[in-house]
Amino acid sequence: MSIVCEFKPGLEGIPASQSSISYVDGQQGVLEYRGIPIEKLATHSTFLETSYLLIWGQLPTTAELAAFEQEIRYHRRIKYRIRDMMKCFPESGHPMDALQASAAALGLFYSRRALDNPEYIRAAVVRLVAKIPTMVAAFQMIRKGNDPIQPRDDLDYAANFLYMLNEREPDPLAAKAFDVSLTLHAEHTMNASTFSARVTASTLTDPYAVIASAVGTLGGPLHGGANEEVISMLEEIGSVGNVRAYVERCIQEKSKIMGFGHRVYKVKDPRAIILQDLAEQLFAKFGSDKYYDIALELERVVEEKFAHKGIYPNVDFYSGLVYRKIGIPTDLYTPVFAIARVAGWLAHWKEQLAENRIFRPTQVYMGNHDMPYIPIEER
Ligand code: SDX
Repeated sequence: MSIVCEFKPGLEGIPASQSSISYVDGQQGVLEYRGIPIEKLATHSTFLETSYLLIWGQLPTTAELAAFEQEIRYHRRIKYRIRDMMKCFPESGHPMDALQASAAALGLFYSRRALDNPEYIRAAVVRLVAKIPTMVAAFQMIRKGNDPIQPRDDLDYAANFLYMLNEREPDPLAAKAFDVSLTLHAEHTMNASTFSARVTASTLTDPYAVIASAVGTLGGPLHGGANEEVISMLEEIGSVGNVRAYVERCIQEKSKIMGFGHRVYKVKDPRAIILQDLAEQLFAKFGSDKYYDIALELERVVEEKFAHKGIYPNVDFYSGLVYRKIGIPTDLYTPVFAIARVAGWLAHWKEQLAENRIFRPTQVYMGNHDMPYIPIEER
């Protein structure tokens, strides 16, 4: 069968699935999870409540939320063999690679695949939402030469993660800001890592492989890895006075300015607006950050030069400034993005299974035909 259709690099504008999980209006700067504006969820819901909404399709009742939170608490610990495996990873390795390997390794422990069994689905959801933060924090401790910190049942999801990272209870504002940031990163329609998750899910493999594949995809600097690159860029710029020259150089060299631009948004990403506000709340309580002044000037100059192309700050631009104030090391920014996005990936995994057909697109063959075979001694 030969199908003739236009090739779109990066599949721009091509629907890869039908979905009722989230919605983006890139012209108006609107993001909704299950029809609810992100601003409402960031203000009124916790990350776990939002995860429940994304994965199970509606906001939980008080009893449903309490049960979900309890299950997550119960499953936060990781097997000692996963910790031992992490101890064999080089300390110099990137935490995203450690997370991808650890997520895949979970499949070794929970391998019975029963994709038509709702209990199996629920158990996999709970395990992944519960254990991914523990694995990120464990690798952080291990690479510093310490034993991982056990999760604390009296702390909520966000506070517990920060506790496992620093071995002390976080300030309530820091924990709240972190929780809101998780909510903002939890889901975002058919981005690259979610597409990757859905392709992997469509083969009916296990959910740990689905999440591991998505983690691997998220790490690149054009996707989730940009949050880390933004801080390196602000460090490189060094002062407000250097911003204009930096932008001019990027224009001349045709290089990308990290944390700006988006395939869908042609206005400022609504998540960036909330993250910027969170950063300001943190600065008001804990002191300012010199990189914030550079970021503000960069946003101003980029708008001046690129507004006609619809290039504005995306989610990754201000998130790093929030994480810096909370005390999260730079190379954990993308793993932290992954902790949040697990909720979206799992929602897409479930949705894919509900009406599955294996992904098998076509290609436009550009090569030759009927080429002569040249024996090795004649090449
Ligand atoms: C995320 O998809 C999602 O939803 C992702 C995400 C999520 O929640 O899952 O929102 C998270 O991945 C955010 C994006 C993080 N990446 C970056 O910040 C890296 C910098 N941004 C760019 O590389 C770029 O804007 C992308 C990757 C985000 C989007 O790529 P596209 O849609 O393929 O756009 P493009 O690279 O083809 O650019 C189109 C035009 C080009 O100019 P022209 O050649 O047409 O003249 O816009 C220019 C680009 O040069 N451009 C930029 C730019 N982004 C686009 N120019 C300078 N700096 C930039 N950042």
